[in-house]
Amino acid sequence: MEYILAPSILAADFKNLGCEMKKTEENGAEYLHFDVMDGMFVPSISFGMPVLASICGATEQVMDVHLMIKEPIRYIEDFKKAGADLITIHLEACEDVHATIAKIRECGMKAGLSICPETDTEELAPYLKEIDMVLIMSVHPGFGGQSFIPESLSKIRRTRQMIAEQELSVDVEVDGGIYLTNVKDVLDAGANIIVAGSAVFKGDAGENTKNFMEILKSYE
Ligand code: DX5
Ligand code: ZN
Repeated sequence: MEYILAPSILAADFKNLGCEMKKTEENGAEYLHFDVMDGMFVPSISFGMPVLASICGATEQVMDVHLMIKEPIRYIEDFKKAGADLITIHLEACEDVHATIAKIRECGMKAGLSICPETDTEELAPYLKEIDMVLIMSVHPGFGGQSFIPESLSKIRRTRQMIAEQELSVDVEVDGGIYLTNVKDVLDAGANIIVAGSAVFKGDAGENTKNFMEILKSYE
């Protein structure tokens, strides 16, 4: 299995964004995590297509777009045009989850499906065959810098078990409150893609990425 770091630019210094992203790329982060918030599905508003279009020319990293927006089906084509490679939608935000996943794949992108901390892991079951990645939220979506919810570990374990039971090869990404101090717990539970915002961008992004990559490589 491949172990990947996805630095979340939500925590970056936006006046130096290009430079900060580069530091993560040069130190081995294969993905860049892009958090889109609409002020409806989550209370906060972040950034959208124009910012994505501007940054994706500055890196070779996979654009891992996390849509925390209501009815994301409305914007799948726009995010594809802006440069998304992988789009993750929230199960709780879609009237028709199957159709939204199908739309992402029709547009030639990988599809991820996310659940909030209060959503039962079993709700993922009907969709596992249709997706490339599950995203387990380990904080309540909407803000960076929150504390990891410990119950997330059992959700990660159960997700991995469900994927194995169906004999599928689906990535498990985990997002929120992950630091060098708890990343091993998340990996041991079965995650293979780690989102880290504050832990990468608050401080030296290059050095922080390097430290995460050392741990991730030890799992390969
Ligand atoms: C929260 C976002 C996360 C956030 C993670 O809604 O989905 O990607 O940026 O930030 P940290 O790593 O600081 O918890
Ligand atoms: Zn995210």
